[in-house]
Amino acid sequence: MALRYTSTLLISSALLLTACGESSQPTTADSTASDADRYVTTLSMHDLMEDVLEPVADSLWRSAGWIDDVEEGYYELYPTTDEGWEHVRQQAGLIVELGNSLALPGRREDDDAWLTYSRAMSEVGLQAMEAAQRQHEEDIFQAGARLYSVCNACHLAYNPEIGRFFD
Ligand code: HEC
Repeated sequence: MALRYTSTLLISSALLLTACGESSQPTTADSTASDADRYVTTLSMHDLMEDVLEPVADSLWRSAGWIDDVEEGYYELYPTTDEGWEHVRQQAGLIVELGNSLALPGRREDDDAWLTYSRAMSEVGLQAMEAAQRQHEEDIFQAGARLYSVCNACHLAYNPEIGRFFD
């Protein structure tokens, strides 16, 4: 395992050296490299949503609230251990950064409402992180509900066909 890690590091630094060697000019902040060169936005919006964002959001939602099931009765979904809460906090951190990822140039659909929704997602993620840090059931539930509204609001604005996921 340790060995594998070392060789990955070696390969990465070799790539880095090659990359640096190729450019004759040092890159400056205002270089004309296009957004497509700066960020890897290969994933389509559809794949980013279904394969990356939705699983993260789902794992947050599955950690907050309760279920009243005809067969299995009433049970709560909140974490019951420190490790469980820590996991929720980490997933919430991913939400923060996925908000940024939606806002990347080359990915965002405009500089207007799209940025407002992306930022709202990051902010709700921060609230969820904080609630998980305090292991506060009601607050993590509220953060989950707000997250759900942000998803729906953006879908309504940009792709009304999507509808709501769970109804
Ligand atoms: C900033 C805007 C925005 C936010 C915020 C957003 N989405 Fe999306 N979402 C989109 C757009 C646009 C599409 C359509 C992508 C496509 O297929 O071209 C989409 C599509 C989806 C799809 C695929 C649905 C389908 O039928 O193709 C899922 C699942 C999804 N989003 C989940 C989520 C979840 C879960 C959240 C919140 C945690 C979320 N999205 C937040 C813009 C957003």
